[in-house]
Amino acid sequence: MVTAAVSTENLTKIYTLDLLKGRKRVVALDGLNLTIGEGHVMGVLGPNGAGKSTTIKLLLNLITPTSGKARLFGLDPSDAEARRNVGYLPENPSPYEYLTGEEFVRFAGSLSGLRGAELTARVRTVLEQVQMDRFTGVQIRRYSKGMTQRIALAQALVSSPRLLILDEPTSGLDVLGRQLIRDIILAEKKKGTSVLLCSHIIPDVEALAEDVAILIGGKLVRSGPVSEMLSDEGSRVELTFEGVDAQRLSPLNPEVIQDGRRLIVRTAAASSRALIEAAHQAEGRLISMQPIRNSLEDAFLEALRNSQNKVGSTIE
Ligand SMILES: Nc1ncnc2c1ncn2[C@@H]1O[C@H](COP(=O)(O)OP(=O)(O)OP(=O)(O)O)[C@@H](O)[C@H]1O
Ligand SMILES: [Mg+2]
Repeated sequence: MVTAAVSTENLTKIYTLDLLKGRKRVVALDGLNLTIGEGHVMGVLGPNGAGKSTTIKLLLNLITPTSGKARLFGLDPSDAEARRNVGYLPENPSPYEYLTGEEFVRFAGSLSGLRGAELTARVRTVLEQVQMDRFTGVQIRRYSKGMTQRIALAQALVSSPRLLILDEPTSGLDVLGRQLIRDIILAEKKKGTSVLLCSHIIPDVEALAEDVAILIGGKLVRSGPVSEMLSDEGSRVELTFEGVDAQRLSPLNPEVIQDGRRLIVRTAAASSRALIEAAHQAEGRLISMQPIRNSLEDAFLEALRNSQNKVGSTIE
């Protein structure tokens, strides 16, 4: 039997808020069923308060579920053996700031059981990987936000984990830093590391993940291979005409943008023929016709629209 890197079964987390006017329940995660196969990269998308970090904290046993189960390589996250396989980059890393970057990564490596020459070699490798080898002797409190983020990633990588859990890994990074993180994740993927990647940067998820899960208001509203979400099913096309009055096409009800003398028309592929004929009869000229590829952003925006753009969780 193949063991999944991550699996959850009806995983639910309800926080209790003690307010001045009594208690409220916050349904942060509502019956999540999710599987990440070994060696797969799963991107998790969701608006603020969707339950992404809650899911991660449950997987790491930092909080306990209200109901349901989580498994890491088949083991309960409360089992230290299960967590030994995991490298974790938290959403807002706060490493011990009076340590130098090197000391901190070394400390993380020693906690995961590395010792002696092996520890020294791994620390050097990961510091080079995140391009922080020039700043190893500098205390973390003197680092910029992006440098702290890089050191936090180095600490997640130092134990050569089988599963990387990355909560907003490119937050605070410049363009080169973002590219670097993407390259590191791709290299890990090549090595067969499983990755759970939470990010608001949809192009990063599109470039790195083969599977994606969309969480909204604590509920999984859509999941599956990225390729399926990008599929051309029900595809649309963009037609560019010259010499056509938009009014002549209006009976066909397309989406129209007037761009100087040109008319850009977006429509379902099935209607393109009727539009071209209508434009032809109006003595207009077709300049170009190209398919509109659905992006992951389109899929995410559609899921958000279907959920009434819900931000945060249900508070009862
Ligand atoms: N300790 C807590 N006590 C009460 N409510 C909490 C607690 N932690 C999180 N929540 C609530 O749980 C919900 C989910 O929060 P979570 O941090 O998982 O969201 P997220 O998807 O990671 O959002 P973001 O994109 O902003 O990081 C939110 O409504 C949040 O207010
Ligand atoms: Mg979060």
